[in-house]
Amino acid sequence: MNDLNRLNPLFRPQEHGRWQLVEPGIWSRAAERPPDDPTTAILKTLSDQPRWLEAHYLYDDRGSDLFERICDLPEYYLTRTENSILEARAPEIIAAAPVECIVELGAGSSRKTVHLLEAQLRQRGRGLFAPVDVSVPGLKASREFVRRHLPGIDFHGLHARYEEGFRSIAKELPTLFVFLGSTVGNFTPPAFARFFDRLSAAMGPGDFLLLGADRVKEPAVLEAAYADSRGLTAEFILNVFLHINRLTGSNFDLGRMRYVSRYNARWRQIEMEAVAAERQRIDFPGAGASFWWESGEPILVEISRKFDPEQLQQQLGFFGLAPVAHYTDPLAWFSLLLFRKAD
Ligand code: TRP
Repeated sequence: MNDLNRLNPLFRPQEHGRWQLVEPGIWSRAAERPPDDPTTAILKTLSDQPRWLEAHYLYDDRGSDLFERICDLPEYYLTRTENSILEARAPEIIAAAPVECIVELGAGSSRKTVHLLEAQLRQRGRGLFAPVDVSVPGLKASREFVRRHLPGIDFHGLHARYEEGFRSIAKELPTLFVFLGSTVGNFTPPAFARFFDRLSAAMGPGDFLLLGADRVKEPAVLEAAYADSRGLTAEFILNVFLHINRLTGSNFDLGRMRYVSRYNARWRQIEMEAVAAERQRIDFPGAGASFWWESGEPILVEISRKFDPEQLQQQLGFFGLAPVAHYTDPLAWFSLLLFRKAD
């Protein structure tokens, strides 16, 4: 083991050089290859048929803030339900997963993960916490919380996409990967398979995964969660176009589109779209490109898939992840599934 490893046991040796400390406790990873310029990246999916957008454009600073507010809405039962399960079962979860490190993917401000960290401290007196997130303000908030309330926890925030984060973690370090909020439901089926192939390959034998998954239920309950009476969800979804205008110089006009969402029972997913209120030309001056957005034509901004937990457990078995435990709430609206990577 080299010197750096002794200082920070979190990273694989070969990954050390790629990460640098950009703030106390916050590491950033240099991108492997230069990313597409934003206009090209956005036109790749906006020119598709039907037109669609990659989910990460939702999370600029305003989008991240709107999403935090959605989590507190009465209609949006996901956050509080998952939190109540974690609060009640964290000691059991941590007892079942004897680890030194907790890696949280897409952590935001890590409000829910606190229960796991407290249980880790109580049962083992120490632990590493490595939230992975593309938002630096979120990582800072979580760092401050840990410093103040969980001084026994060694904090290493990773400013990166999920994959860059999880494949940098040392395989020998006993780790619990945590993926909450039913973010797994925002993957398209091919993205889902790719994600679990790569996560499973990055996990060391005996590592654990705690996965939060929203369940199939009454369509009216599902639909209300994504079409709140205050219109916050509509604001969050349509905000993606303000972000895109800023990135590309395009001329999307929020006054000439509307937010439409529905539960597609056949595909077991909520579909969230922007629909053109009238025919309009969308221009991308930097790229010399444009398209006609026809009246009534949808742009698919986000999906949120709903799960049958037993089926999900079976499915992840084919990715080398064995089910260990299943925690749910009294109404069986949300599931937390614990898996162990096969040896
Ligand atoms: N993963 C959460 C969900 O599917 C969060 C989320 C993603 C969301 N996109 C959203 C919530 C759009 C509301 C609206 O519910």
